[in-house]
Amino acid sequence: MSISFSGEPADEIITSSTILPEDSGEASLRPRTLDEYIGQEKAKDNLRIFIEAAKMRGESLDHVLLHGPPGLGKTTLAAVIANEMGVNMRITSGPSIEKAGDLAALLTNLQENDILFVDEIHRLDRAVEEILYPAMEDYAIDIIIGKGPSANSIRLDLPHFTLIGATTRSGQLTAPLRDRFGVTLRLELYTPEELGRIVTRSAGILGIAIEPDGAEEIASRSRGTPRIANRMLRRVRDYAQVRAGGVITRQVANEALLRLEVDRQGLDSVDRRMLKSIIEFYGGGPVGLETLAATINEEPVTLEDVYEPYLLQQGFLTRTPRGRCVTRKAYEHLGLEYSGQEQLEL
Ligand code: ADE
Repeated sequence: MSISFSGEPADEIITSSTILPEDSGEASLRPRTLDEYIGQEKAKDNLRIFIEAAKMRGESLDHVLLHGPPGLGKTTLAAVIANEMGVNMRITSGPSIEKAGDLAALLTNLQENDILFVDEIHRLDRAVEEILYPAMEDYAIDIIIGKGPSANSIRLDLPHFTLIGATTRSGQLTAPLRDRFGVTLRLELYTPEELGRIVTRSAGILGIAIEPDGAEEIASRSRGTPRIANRMLRRVRDYAQVRAGGVITRQVANEALLRLEVDRQGLDSVDRRMLKSIIEFYGGGPVGLETLAATINEEPVTLEDVYEPYLLQQGFLTRTPRGRCVTRKAYEHLGLEYSGQEQLEL
């Protein structure tokens, strides 16, 4: 199997779930089989059946849409699928396919049963997206040759392939595109227990000495996200090496993470700023996403995709039709006096 790709992004905060340059070293930590892949049990159970059935028939796997918050392993899972199917995977992303011709070039270079992985598929250009419809449905693309009245359309057959689309915002997919995926899998935030196993596995691969309590401490503070857990593991290792004799214990993990401004519940400075602003400026809420984002100088999509999922899951925040509200738990966590918002919480 070979995996090839053209990639991008950047940021610098430890709890960022977007890919940072140093995460490229994450490749060695990535599981290669469904058995090695920890968590996402529901998605894996389904995939095992679909993969086995496709292999028995000697066919390509049906197109798969993976959605869920960033950092949960959508690319990793796609690579696992390619490996289990015994096919090659080409990686690209919605915003990097600028013209219909770019996509046509990608598609015509695939081999039978290969996988095309399109990250951030909700950001595909409309004209590009339209090429995908016949490609997904009939394994063919229509190419227009020439211009004006003499233009001609020719149909080009493609190899049978599997499109794996990944998105943090499945709601932004157009209906025709969404309908063309035979399999839709939602990835969930990982439990602390699953993250503990991931941290222990990664420490083993990287040769880092870690006690079970140390792994548990990192796991419970990595906001349900393996990418963050693995990044924290590296930073805590640095601290352990320089200040604590090289072994990651619970105390070492705690000291290192507090230095990085990640508190005991895994909230970082942006999370706390978000909760505090709702309390201080909007009486605990409700406040609209756009207003809140402007108040703390962040992008609304960043708050919605990156910060909210964990705050909602942990019960610090609720979403109501009139906007976001903080909960009693948030007041208590921030050490602020609760001023009675029960009604809104209900
Ligand atoms: N590393 C990152 N994500 C992982 C996962 N889901 N299972 C095992 N190792 C991982």
